[in-house]
Amino acid sequence: MNTPICDFVRKYAQSNAVRLHMPGHKGCGVLGVEPWDITEIDGADVLYQANGIIKQSQENAASLFGTAKTVYSVEGSSLCIRAMLYLVRVLAKASGKRPLIAAGRNAHKVFMTAAALLDIDVAWLYPENRETLLSCTLTAQAIEQYLSKAQELPLAVYLTSPDYLGNMVDIAAIAEVCHRYGVLLLVDNAHGAYLRFLPESYHPISLGADLCCDSAHKTLAVLTGGAYLHVAKTAPQLFVEHAEIAMSVFASTSPSYVILQSLDAANARLAGEYPGQLAALAQRVFTLKKTLRQHGYRLVGNEPLKITVAPKMCGYTGTELAALLCEKGIVCEASDPDFVVLMLTTDIGTDELAHLETVLCSLPLREPVVAWAPSAPHTVQRLSPREALLSPSEALPIEQCVGRVLAAATVSCPPAIPVVVCGEEINEEAVRCFAYYGITECRVI
Ligand SMILES: Cc1ncc(COP(=O)(O)O)c(C=O)c1O
Repeated sequence: MNTPICDFVRKYAQSNAVRLHMPGHKGCGVLGVEPWDITEIDGADVLYQANGIIKQSQENAASLFGTAKTVYSVEGSSLCIRAMLYLVRVLAKASGKRPLIAAGRNAHKVFMTAAALLDIDVAWLYPENRETLLSCTLTAQAIEQYLSKAQELPLAVYLTSPDYLGNMVDIAAIAEVCHRYGVLLLVDNAHGAYLRFLPESYHPISLGADLCCDSAHKTLAVLTGGAYLHVAKTAPQLFVEHAEIAMSVFASTSPSYVILQSLDAANARLAGEYPGQLAALAQRVFTLKKTLRQHGYRLVGNEPLKITVAPKMCGYTGTELAALLCEKGIVCEASDPDFVVLMLTTDIGTDELAHLETVLCSLPLREPVVAWAPSAPHTVQRLSPREALLSPSEALPIEQCVGRVLAAATVSCPPAIPVVVCGEEINEEAVRCFAYYGITECRVI
């Protein structure tokens, strides 16, 4: 597969042109990437009005992911989530319907702020079983039950799959239910770009979602910030036609060409050796997970490449285990009292995997830690998220916040899942949840 953006920039860098354009470093600097860091000069195309090398590269990505349209982001999935909600807002206007989205409660904070800014109403979906705030593993039956009883059907259902812990919901079954009710399915697939390239694709677009975002940088060999907005072939034509404008409403007008080259270069690898490497790694991770379970660890999630250890049964909190791993030179993605999240990709070596296995399996098992994580608190909405987000606010210690309305989404970051949504009244249950995740202060109206 060709790499038109990389080819153009390399040729330009070799031409030693006098750069009387942005950026200010003029192609020289200490980082080494400066020669490749250009702006939208003649021939370099324009992101979100793409008609040249970026268009060709995005079409390459679209053919790899099997979409009607794939648009690049150099500002992460965060930008794509705002764009997805903008598209729903435009669709609501076009169809004369209320902009209502039913969303899994473990949505990333960008979803909440975007909904607030775009004045989109959100009906929260909670998991059937007791889960921590980080997960909301909804079944097709639960979605069917919600839609069949809803007084007003939402325009879309919005789910996070895989979630931060590596739980994937049954997108195919949920998409079938949504579409039967004439409701669209939007998926935050920030953690799942690679799912498309497994021997059997588990990517949301392959399974029937209408729109999704992938943080290429989280699981593919792409620089931080590189992401995709995908529009499915079955999605409304309006989404295809408005995808670029949706991104440009929120995006910087100075996109990073270094990140664009990284996305462009990824296409060639994804079309080449990557699927074979991925299949081999998935097998190795499967075997490693089996070994860890045999050692006594409880693992969470069904995502092939993520290992989420819930070590309390082995006598360690997640935070303790992460510190022990760090002493052995292993830095995890995230940890909290309950979990340690480890993200593996094809760029991790066999020796490194073996080291991880040795370190985890050499830790002695101890008496279980008995302390339960709180689930998402059930709170009452007092103001619309938009009104709350745009109101002046003050920061207070959380114990003084009971009865007050939350202004900005307060998060435990990562994974940036708000404990309380802006506009909701903070109750005792929420305060306990804040305290559990080490949040000591929040902004209230
Ligand atoms: C589930 C989820 N969605 C969205 C995002 C935002 O993605 P990005 O960092 O690519 O903007 C994150 C970031 O961690 C995430 O975990």
